[in-house]
Amino acid sequence: MPQVYTTDHSKSVLQTHSWRTAQNSAPHLIPHIQPTHKILDVGCGPGSISVSLAKLVPGGSVTGVEYVSDPLSGARALAQAEGVTNITFQEGDIHALPFEDGSFDIVHAHQVLQHIADPVLALREMRRVVKRGGIVSCRESAVLT
Ligand SMILES: C[S@@+](CC[C@H](N)C(=O)[O-])C[C@H]1O[C@@H](n2cnc3c(N)ncnc32)[C@H](O)[C@@H]1O
Repeated sequence: MPQVYTTDHSKSVLQTHSWRTAQNSAPHLIPHIQPTHKILDVGCGPGSISVSLAKLVPGGSVTGVEYVSDPLSGARALAQAEGVTNITFQEGDIHALPFEDGSFDIVHAHQVLQHIADPVLALREMRRVVKRGGIVSCRESAVLT
């Protein structure tokens, strides 16, 4: 699968993304989150949304996935700095997620589908790894006021 993410993971790009939290970037999802949920955050970038999601599931967990390792050390450092321990970060391609069917209560992606080779295949993968009755959540644009 060709990689088409044309933005890099330079410090300035990651800083631009790292102001994001579940509160400002996934407010639609928050009412549906239960404290024991197991959440997958695909294309997690600097991990700031992932870490804020993990704080909402103290009895559950968050897994952040990126197709390259570049942003993951910063994401792990952020989790450590925030004292968040119910989170792991690993490499994985959204087109072929390295998880069993039905592994998560919520599968989330923020501003990822617009950057990838095959969004339909990605959505199929996200659906495959969510539990029956779970939630697949994608948000692609943000309107700032
Ligand atoms: C615009 S950034 C969004 C990062 C984060 N979700 C956020 O909103 O702060 C898109 C992210 O998708 C990741 N990405 C691109 N192609 C991917 C793929 N095939 N599988 C997983 N992640 C991918 C990029 O590395 C990048 O970090």
